[in-house]
This record gives sequence, C-alpha cells and structure tokens, in this order.
Amino acid sequence: MSESKQSEATRSDLILGIESSCDETAAAIVAGGKTILSSVVASQIDIHRKYGGVVPELASREHLRRIVPVVREAASQAGIELRDVGAIAVTRGPGLVGSLIVGVTYGKALAMSLGKPLIPVNHLEGHVHAVLLEAHAAGRAPEFPAVCLIVSGGHTILYRVIQAASGDHGNGSIVRGAVMPLHYGRIGGTRDDAAGEAYDKVAKMLALGYPGGPIIDQLAAFGDPAAIRFATTKIRGNAYDFSFSGIKTAVFYLLRKHPELQGEIDARITALGRGERSAEAIRPLCSKFTLDLVASFQHSVVEDLLRRTMAAAEEFKARSVLVSGGVAANRALRAAFDEAAKQARLNVHFPSRALSTDNAAMIAAAAYPRFLAGEAADVTLNAEANLPLA
Ligand code: KG4
Ligand code: ZN
Repeated sequence: MSESKQSEATRSDLILGIESSCDETAAAIVAGGKTILSSVVASQIDIHRKYGGVVPELASREHLRRIVPVVREAASQAGIELRDVGAIAVTRGPGLVGSLIVGVTYGKALAMSLGKPLIPVNHLEGHVHAVLLEAHAAGRAPEFPAVCLIVSGGHTILYRVIQAASGDHGNGSIVRGAVMPLHYGRIGGTRDDAAGEAYDKVAKMLALGYPGGPIIDQLAAFGDPAAIRFATTKIRGNAYDFSFSGIKTAVFYLLRKHPELQGEIDARITALGRGERSAEAIRPLCSKFTLDLVASFQHSVVEDLLRRTMAAAEEFKARSVLVSGGVAANRALRAAFDEAAKQARLNVHFPSRALSTDNAAMIAAAAYPRFLAGEAADVTLNAEANLPLA
C-alpha cells in the first residue's frame, strides 16, 4: 500500500462521536472502534445542582453553548483535523428531546459540510459498547450470550445480548478486527424510577449533594448496610422488572419519623451552600443513623440489581454479564457483581469508571460496525426521545 493510501485508510478508521442525550455535552475520536484518541465530557452538574436534578430547558441551552468547543477540543486532543474522520456518529435517542436535537442537528450540519457519512446511534447501545470497547482494547472480548444491565440516572434495563452466526452487521461488535453481529432482546426494566434517580432523590432528601450516586457510594462505606431492612418491592408479572420508587418513599417516611435529623440536614445544607461537597466535608456532618441509612439504602438497591441480573443470566444461560451506565461506577455494586459472577463461574465486565457515565467514546465505538457495513443517515434524521434498543 502506498504511503498516501495507507494514511487514507488509517484516517478513515477514525470516528467522531457526539453525545448530548442528557446533561453531558461530549465528543470523542475513536480509531478502529476501540482506540480512544480523545474523549471530552463537559458536565453540566454545576448548573443542575441547585435543582437537585436535570432541568431539560437549561440542559439544551447549555448543549448549544458547549457543543462546538467540545467537538473542537476532541479533535485537538486527538491531534487531528475534523476533515480526517471517516464518519460522524451522533446519539439519536433515547434522552431529553431538546438535548438530543442539539447533537443531532449539529452532527447533521457537520457531516454535510465535511461530506462525511452520519451514523445515528442508540444511547443504550452506546452504553453496551462502553464495555465492549475497553474489553476489546484489552484483548478480552466478552463471551456471548450475555446479559447486560444498563443502570444510570435515566435507565435501568436488562437485555440479553446474543451473537448471531451471520447476518447484518448492524448491531455488531468488533472482535479481532472482524464484525460480530449482536442482537439485543429486552428482558426487563424499571417500572418507575431508574436506580440512579433513586440515589439522586435520596441524596436530595438527606441534603448530601448532587449527584447522589458518588457521595452515597463514599459515605456508605462508613455505615452498616444491615442496619435498616427495606422491604423488597413485589412486582407482579415480569420477574426481571425493577421498581425503585418504593425505597425512595420508605426513606421519606423514615425521615419523617426522625425529626431530630433536621439539625444535621440543615448543617449539610449550609456546608453545601459554601461549596463543601466532598465526602470528607460531609461525613463529619452525618450521624451514625444517617450513615447506616445510606449504607442500607445502597445495599438494598445493589442487592435488587444483582439478584434479578444473576437470575436472568442463569435463565438465559449467559456466559458473561455486562454492567454499564452511571450507577455501574458504584464500588459496592462492582464488588457484589464480581463476587456473584465468580460463584456462578461467569465473567462480569464493567467499563472503567470514566466510561460508565455518559461519554461520546461509547457512541463512536457503537457506530464503527455500522460504518463498516456502510450504514448512514440522511438529512431527514430526527432525535427520538423514546427510541428503544429492543
Ligand atoms: O450514565 P449517566 O452519566 O447518565 C444517565 O444516562 O443517566 O448516569 C448518571 C447517574 C446519576 O443518577 C448518578 O447519581 C449515578 O449515575 N452515579 C452513581 C455513581 N456515579 C454516578 N450511582 C451510584 N454510585 C456511583 N458511584
Ligand atoms: Zn446514559
């Protein structure tokens, strides 16, 4: 291959991923579906913090402000020009419609002006690829069939993932350079709140700061997870469905029964107002009861996620378990899944903590098999807030 052809081929391997489905404006350059050259995530946490949750109107306005600099930063950190990429991948859904529209519109305009194919990606498939991308890069591709739990602030869904012997490359995964077609089947999902949403709401009630997941993760290590028993929510019908609104309500009523906690709650509100948000700053302002409460809450949520996922893995004869999404960054959850998978002689795969939460590297990775298969969207592409994966 001549030198210019070689560099052309290398360049066409590059995918620019764009992600704007919720409150992170993200762009990444990924080579060959697995090598991350850059991954830039502009978080909007500071904007949404005072509301204790994502405010959709503010999120889309902020995406508009950040998307161009974030994409430029991704190209610059990767040491490339945007015209060097082979394709542009963008999250089409599911997510907040106003946020999605910013990414989709910008992706369309960029693809058109650069004359590159535009590849729409399902955000949930992106989370699956956050696991696959790093596993492939480390040379330890998961074995299929697999069960995949996507657990974040917006989603708690269980899929079964099978590898088809042949067929279309649409949902493929790259294994040693070859496209392995994957097919997803939905097994179950939350009927009300997502697990991350429950973390955020409980943290809000207890004045622990926003987002709730990381701080509860750290504080829980200092409490007794067996101190408070939360009743498991009975779910009729599908044994693989989840429900987290019950535990949130249980915490609410528990706090009503303990008005003496108001003093420490007020102290934490004051500390948070001063910008003292670290676990080191918040922990001394928590009573033993509060630390036991967060540890018990977390234990209950993790046990529930674990129990249903492992039961699904058994029923569907999975050879691996994949866990992705913001809550997959949780240390207790990782330890519990590692232990249970060892017992069941299964491999469990998580993304690194950085790729657990929303990012665009996972979007670029998910697009790569579609790019190889020649898939591309035209100008009629629209954001779809409720886009299902299966
Ligand atoms: O995947 P993500 O960035 O955005 C969504 O698609 O929702 O996930 C954010 C969610 C938030 O609810 C946050 O509280 C939770 O993930 N989270 C965690 C941890 N880190 C983030 N939950 C538990 N433990 C963590 N370490
Ligand atoms: Zn997500």
